[in-house]
Amino acid sequence: MDIDAILKELTLEEKASLCSGEDFWHTKAIERLGIPSIMVSDGPHGLRKNVENAENPNTAIKAVCFPSACALACSFDRELVGEMGKALGEQCQAEEVSVILGPGCNIKRSPLCGRNFEYFSEDPYLASQMAIAHIKGVQSKGVGTSLKHFAANNQESRRMSIEEIIDERTLHEIYLAAFEQTIKQAKPWTVMCSYNKINGVYSSQNKHLLTDILRSDWGFEGLVVSDWGAVDDRVKGIKAGLDLEMPSSMGKNDKYIVKAVNSGELDENELDKCVRKILELIQKSVQSKTEMTWNKERHHALAEKLSLRSAVLLKNDDKLLPLDKSAKIAFIGAFAEQPRYQGGGSSHINSFKTVSALEAVEGNENITYARGFNLEKDESDLVLEEEAVKAAKNADCVVIFAGLPESFESEGYDRTHMCLPSCQLELIDKLCEVNENIAVVLHNGSPVELPFDDKVKAILEMYLGGQAVGSAEVKLLFGEENPSGKLAETFPEKLEDNPSYLNFPGDDNTVRYAEGIFVGYRYYEKKKMAVRYAFGHGLSYTDFEYSDMKVSDYEIGETDTVTVQVTVTNTGSRDGAEVVQLYIAPKQASVMRPIKELKGFERVYLKAGESRRIVFRLDKSAFAYYSEKIHDFYSESGEYTISLSSSSADERLSADVHFNASKPLPIRFTLDSLGGDVQAIPEGKAMLEELLKSIGVNMTGNDERLDGDEIEIALKMLLDMPLHTMVSFSKTKEITREKMQQFVDKLNEKFG
Ligand code: BGC
Repeated sequence: MDIDAILKELTLEEKASLCSGEDFWHTKAIERLGIPSIMVSDGPHGLRKNVENAENPNTAIKAVCFPSACALACSFDRELVGEMGKALGEQCQAEEVSVILGPGCNIKRSPLCGRNFEYFSEDPYLASQMAIAHIKGVQSKGVGTSLKHFAANNQESRRMSIEEIIDERTLHEIYLAAFEQTIKQAKPWTVMCSYNKINGVYSSQNKHLLTDILRSDWGFEGLVVSDWGAVDDRVKGIKAGLDLEMPSSMGKNDKYIVKAVNSGELDENELDKCVRKILELIQKSVQSKTEMTWNKERHHALAEKLSLRSAVLLKNDDKLLPLDKSAKIAFIGAFAEQPRYQGGGSSHINSFKTVSALEAVEGNENITYARGFNLEKDESDLVLEEEAVKAAKNADCVVIFAGLPESFESEGYDRTHMCLPSCQLELIDKLCEVNENIAVVLHNGSPVELPFDDKVKAILEMYLGGQAVGSAEVKLLFGEENPSGKLAETFPEKLEDNPSYLNFPGDDNTVRYAEGIFVGYRYYEKKKMAVRYAFGHGLSYTDFEYSDMKVSDYEIGETDTVTVQVTVTNTGSRDGAEVVQLYIAPKQASVMRPIKELKGFERVYLKAGESRRIVFRLDKSAFAYYSEKIHDFYSESGEYTISLSSSSADERLSADVHFNASKPLPIRFTLDSLGGDVQAIPEGKAMLEELLKSIGVNMTGNDERLDGDEIEIALKMLLDMPLHTMVSFSKTKEITREKMQQFVDKLNEKFG
């Protein structure tokens, strides 16, 4: 396909028509010029390809449902998530799907967001690492991805119209950061814009977002597609850099595009830019097509492996787990029979098979089962409860399979609370009264409150673990496999503790991100707030020891790479994996910063007794925050602590380094600058002293008319006073506004 030649051949009407889909899942073909149509399909944790001409338009082909992103991220396993990506790529090739829609790397702002299960984390670094692995895996098979939802799609309430008010630093440091790293490092073929508005503008027509940031600043060269139905004004969209509208607009928007070009409102070159991106995507897909088959059972085994590595052992008192195989065990709870393993909405996969925990223990006569509650309605069923209590009484230990039923969380709406159904909570309480050896296995897409935490001995968080979740649960419960997942998000004690609580989901059509950069553990740590389970937490059936931390240099410059090494030893008697987390904490900062931030992690599998040396490499970006003064990330000079931790609340080793910025942030003084702003910079202090002396104020504190305290108070007030106010307060005629302006000019000359 010669794209330049085709662009010359296309009529205006044909160009306009290419800018939207043919139907729900296909781009348009233009046969006379040999332009084929390509197919896209939903993901991200499986292939949801629609069956053509099915009676029910939502019927998807049989495929494999891998664990959802909420679970996957807990594996902290770049390699295995990459394997999943490859498996998805193989399925797409075999099914002639050119682009699989996903992954989503939106940040989990509130535990209530109905779509949290499709997102990785509350932490942008972790979210980007998972998205990068996913995309590289899929694209290595010649299939494209669509990184979504760009940007800040953090709630489902009014998701198609909500107006988000987000300050620049928060937007870049939290909500864009995962997109930025993923786009730079994994180069997704496409990016999907979100439905919402950010600071007044729909993402689908936000030039600042789609062109200035995405293309100019980050160098994105792929195609931007709208979320399905996210287009408001198609012409504005084209000007902003939205290449493809999906699904079909039935020709409605083609007319506006043609009219805008004819009237001169839209430059045809801008339209050509979009058409070029569409043609490039089609060309890439056609050139990457290969014959491929995929093996369902192999992918099912991969789904189980992912679920095993994603499960998080939240607590395990008295080493209740792994269970003793010869003990009498009661499995209680409907999720043992019907596990909830995926979320609702566009990512819903038609699994070719599923395995429940009950199926996985079939034939084991030591295990009894009682349903305990119904999934359809949150209503206690006394008959089921009695049966469950009886089973618990007769057992040495009890495993309760609990979680959120489908109706509790889905794409399209948010939760209104963080509780498990009350019928489940009531049952758990009753069971705790008759048996003290209780383990709870959870199935949920986002954190829940755990009022029974102190009453049960063990909690195993499976999240939405994919179609093989049941066999994974059984292998973990009985110790055939060792849990190694770590939480990718904080479990607060209660919903009200969450930083977005007062501003979620907003009033009317507006939501203010008032908590700023303090999302997830960044908030709880800053507030010294107790949480139920900390970010990065997860237990194992073995123990790990960290030793011999070595940092290559104390002094670090702008272009240096510093290496951090540590030895991890499995000191227990079982093989297992540990996720070593590297956090960076500034010891001082000129702006509000989180206590610490995740900047690296390595997952290491160790046989019992085995040790391994792990190496991290950090560059200056690890120390950076986003500065609104330079509209970019900035790493400030100063001392930082690097800690190596088993969770954000379990630091094992640490060392300090000193970062040296090659230049300070530019400073621009005005008459509004405070005395303190001037005093804070070297030489500024001397200049201020000189100026103040000239109006009879002695900054060194030797004023005979005042006593010590008075001097101190006067100085404090002075340093908090804008320069123009000093003019008003000065008792001498010499200090005029003009003279102060000259002082400001002199400062800017020197430091600006
Ligand atoms: C969702 C997207 C999805 C698309 C196509 C939209 O409603 O937000 O994530 O890819 O539908 O199903």
